[in-house]
Amino acid sequence: MNVSTATTCILLISLFACGDDDDRSTGEVTGETGDNTVADGDGVRGGALYDKYWAVTEDDAPTANHPLWASRPDTTTNTRSGSDTWRCKECHGWDYKGAAGAYASGSHATGIAGVMATTLSPAEIVEELQGNHGYGDVLSEQDLADLAVFLIDYTIDLDDYINADGAFSGDSSGGETAYMDNCSGCHGADGLETNVPGGTPGFEDFPGLIANDNPQEFLHKVRFGQPGTLMPALADQLADRLSDLGAFSQTLPTGAE
Ligand code: HEC
Ligand code: HEC
Repeated sequence: MNVSTATTCILLISLFACGDDDDRSTGEVTGETGDNTVADGDGVRGGALYDKYWAVTEDDAPTANHPLWASRPDTTTNTRSGSDTWRCKECHGWDYKGAAGAYASGSHATGIAGVMATTLSPAEIVEELQGNHGYGDVLSEQDLADLAVFLIDYTIDLDDYINADGAFSGDSSGGETAYMDNCSGCHGADGLETNVPGGTPGFEDFPGLIANDNPQEFLHKVRFGQPGTLMPALADQLADRLSDLGAFSQTLPTGAE
């Protein structure tokens, strides 16, 4: 799809389902409501902002709770406070499905809905984030545009990659090449490197561990990188091999025996 088709597609997204689901190219978003125009968002950068914005913007982490935290439907299960409550993923999940996804239960449950099926236009998303969500003071117009493009173009249905039992549905022998070409240089052939270039010495969130314990988080990290570190975002490059890469990574050791 060329840029003008992509733009038209995004403009029409609130009226019609967008035909070409597989197009994950960086969108130029020009949706408008009122006088609010959003242009030239980078959805891959938006994915990193969705994870932990202050690691991307290099600002101080917030200290107070997010304004919507106190009104989450389930206030007893997830007892986190402060900066964690500002991560989009904490409320809406690594699978973008909120209470309808992996965060339906467990220590991260909040009862908050997902963002995957949003019908808001890019400009409405920006308005929502600046307003009720309280990001107006901490994120720039560019950051917000990047988040809008991420939500519209890059939130994939992880059920297409991960089975109900948590196993990746891909082919692990195919995924081995993807791992060796894109990951082993930093994480080691067995994924157990504790001195990852650009990381903290003693790193233990090994690819094999995260792929098995939290496949949804694993996919998000592979696609959008580890915010604020050298780990690259490979959403576009590995789009066709995510499930195979995940299946291979699940065969890696989860820790030193
Ligand atoms: C403290 C929890 C919390 C955090 C953090 C949070 N949200 Fe939300 N978000 C909500 C709640 C609550 C709603 C309303 C959900 C509902 O309608 O039930 C919402 C709704 C939305 C909607 C509207 C969905 C729709 O179609 O109506 C979007 C888009 C959205 N959030 C994006 C984001 C993004 C992007 C971030 C990070 C920059 C973020 N949210 C961070 C709690 C949060
Ligand atoms: C240029 C080096 C580099 C490459 C290439 C790289 N990573 Fe990383 N990765 C990192 C760094 C740095 C971190 C953060 C380490 C830290 O926090 O100390 C990280 C963190 C991670 C994490 C942990 C995330 C978490 O939840 O904390 C996973 C999982 C991971 N990488 C998997 C992969 C996979 C799979 C690939 C290949 C698709 C890959 N990485 C490619 C450098 C890299």
